[in-house]
Amino acid sequence: MSTAEPSVDNLTPLEARLELDRLAAEIARHDRAYHVEDRPLIADADYDALVRRNAAIEARFPELVRPDSPSRRVGAAPAEGFRRVRHAVPMLSLDNAFAEEDVQEFVGRVRRFLGLAADDPVAMVAEPKIDGLSISLRYENGRFVQGATRGDGTEGEDVTLNLLTLADLPKIIAGAPRVLEVRGEVYMTKADFLALNRRQEAAGEKLFANPRNAAAGSLRQLDSRVTATRALSLFAYALGEVSEPVADSHWHFLERLKLWGFKVNPLARPCADADQALAVYREVGDGRAALPYDIDGVVYKVDRFDWQGRLGFKDRSPRWAIAHKFPAEQARTRLKSIEISVGRTGVLTPWADLEPVNVGGVVVARATLHNEDDIARKDIRAGDLVIVQRAGDVIPQVVGPVAGQPRGEAFSMVAKLTPPGGDHAVCPECGSHAVRDEGEVAWRCTGGLVCPTQATERLIHFASRDAFDIEGLGEKNLAFLREQGYIRTPADIFTLEDADRANLHKLENFPGWGKRSVQKLFDAIRLRSRIGLERFIYALGIRQVGEATAKRLARHYHNLDRWRDAMMAAADRESEAWADLTAIEDIGPSVAGDLVDFFAEEHNRQAIADLVAAMERLGGTVEEAQALGASGSAVAGKAVVFTGTLATMTRQEAKARAEALGAKVVGSVSKKTDYVVAGADPGSKAAEAAKLGVPLLSEQDWLDLIGR
Ligand code: IVH
Repeated sequence: MSTAEPSVDNLTPLEARLELDRLAAEIARHDRAYHVEDRPLIADADYDALVRRNAAIEARFPELVRPDSPSRRVGAAPAEGFRRVRHAVPMLSLDNAFAEEDVQEFVGRVRRFLGLAADDPVAMVAEPKIDGLSISLRYENGRFVQGATRGDGTEGEDVTLNLLTLADLPKIIAGAPRVLEVRGEVYMTKADFLALNRRQEAAGEKLFANPRNAAAGSLRQLDSRVTATRALSLFAYALGEVSEPVADSHWHFLERLKLWGFKVNPLARPCADADQALAVYREVGDGRAALPYDIDGVVYKVDRFDWQGRLGFKDRSPRWAIAHKFPAEQARTRLKSIEISVGRTGVLTPWADLEPVNVGGVVVARATLHNEDDIARKDIRAGDLVIVQRAGDVIPQVVGPVAGQPRGEAFSMVAKLTPPGGDHAVCPECGSHAVRDEGEVAWRCTGGLVCPTQATERLIHFASRDAFDIEGLGEKNLAFLREQGYIRTPADIFTLEDADRANLHKLENFPGWGKRSVQKLFDAIRLRSRIGLERFIYALGIRQVGEATAKRLARHYHNLDRWRDAMMAAADRESEAWADLTAIEDIGPSVAGDLVDFFAEEHNRQAIADLVAAMERLGGTVEEAQALGASGSAVAGKAVVFTGTLATMTRQEAKARAEALGAKVVGSVSKKTDYVVAGADPGSKAAEAAKLGVPLLSEQDWLDLIGR
């Protein structure tokens, strides 16, 4: 036993975390030696001392208890995965520009928003867009205390221990504010990626598709000793939460980052205007292939921090930055055949089975073909030599056949779906009739719940990363549990443990399962029986309801009951509920119709009720959603009208800021209006407010009210 151990009372959180890491490994080693190898390495009393020290540290830092802590290992298997971290300042994405005009428009929007004249300069910084994964690094009193992945932007995963293995990460920085969050990109160089894949291949392990996947896979290792063997690099480029200002401009911030010891991309340049920024784009683009790491564009950021603050955010991206993407990378290859897959809503989607080809550093063997009409329009045929392209995160696409080559036979969906000797199209998975409805582009399997692929796809979606995120319930296990009759509906997932008990623990005897992995799965399920409303909505897999729409619905209706009741009331298209639903941003009559249709089905309502009941039996619940960043604001939920000319901001800026604080900005004054804010020359709306007795605020009153 080591004697020089610092007293538990003196440990900093970071030291405690490292010590818990060490103890977990050490205790596991002794457990193995004792239980498995029957060859204890230390005396029982010394072993007990290790366990006690682990428990004492955990008692002082309960938030640091590792998912695989020795204290939890007794009886129960460790829960899988990383601790979740809520970002103090959300981690956003960037709007994209593809053409030079998009960049000019971006600058125009900035000017209009800030009320600048057409010839007022808007200085920017141009820097490469690194193709890695973004992370947030938190420093308190100059010490690195926590690092997290972006996750969904609001909530990421705690990868502190893994980040500590990066040579580029400053662990202690001098002259930093009390709280400082630095954001940046973890990436793998092309050379390190190739070397890693060579090692993986030699060891018979799975290969990574590209440097970004390799970086992500390496950072998300549950065992930081594995991460330590992977060469990961880091560029810093943005700010999260700070306790005091650190610079007045992005350029000065980058300089400060360098002084603090961060790596800042050496190609970053200050630009006086859009023309200079575009020159950087062309120069960086020309040198792209020769860079030691992958980039997929150039990011332009408005330099002045006070302007960034005023410009603020829209949805998930800042108004003060834009990513100017490089064109998609293309390659030629042979289209071996066109295959069909069945999606969770029964849509039969054609896809291209390709001779594997390297497209800008990524090996592509499959590409989507969207639908029959798209194939006909591009005239894509099996056997063709085709052009394949890949743009950033987008799934690879087939652009079309290479001209002047011998052609195969034209593709027909009916022919593909009709079995030899058959007289109609069928689902390739379940044999039910396949139909293409009038006015639709997609073919669809009519099998509904009897189609095992549809049912499994729905469950896979339900348990997937952006939905319920249940570790261990991927495609393979779900298909198996479905076949065995354990899981047919989402609710069955949460009663799986009961079902298995009733079945005399049969699961653990299936090949490849075992007691430990079954227990792990139960733990993972229990862990996710408490879930946010937005994930819950998204997980239901309602047609046209993706993540963004789910988020909007959650924020609008706040809790499950209100949402469900509103969706049922909206079945009447004359109702207020329908008007309210279709007034939500990006929810038009088509999406609203799908929502209403979903709730019109008794079996869907029943499935939700069963699901919630099963989650609650495990101690879980569907958590209420909060309006983003708006809770506690004096104007949250208030209806506000702006009128007249404002002196300190444009109308657009006033509206954006009010909405960010949770207010509803409306166009005309009524009895329901809470405030009318009047600038110079207010006109009839101010008179209307006076008549209706609505409080009339000056611009300064308003600024005071929102605390500016
Ligand atoms: S700034 C508030 N700068 O691009 C905006 N992002 O599409 C913060 N990225 O999630 C992002 N290089 O992962 C910024 N120089 C750069 C970047 C960069 C890569 C990534 C980042 C972000 C994504 C947005």
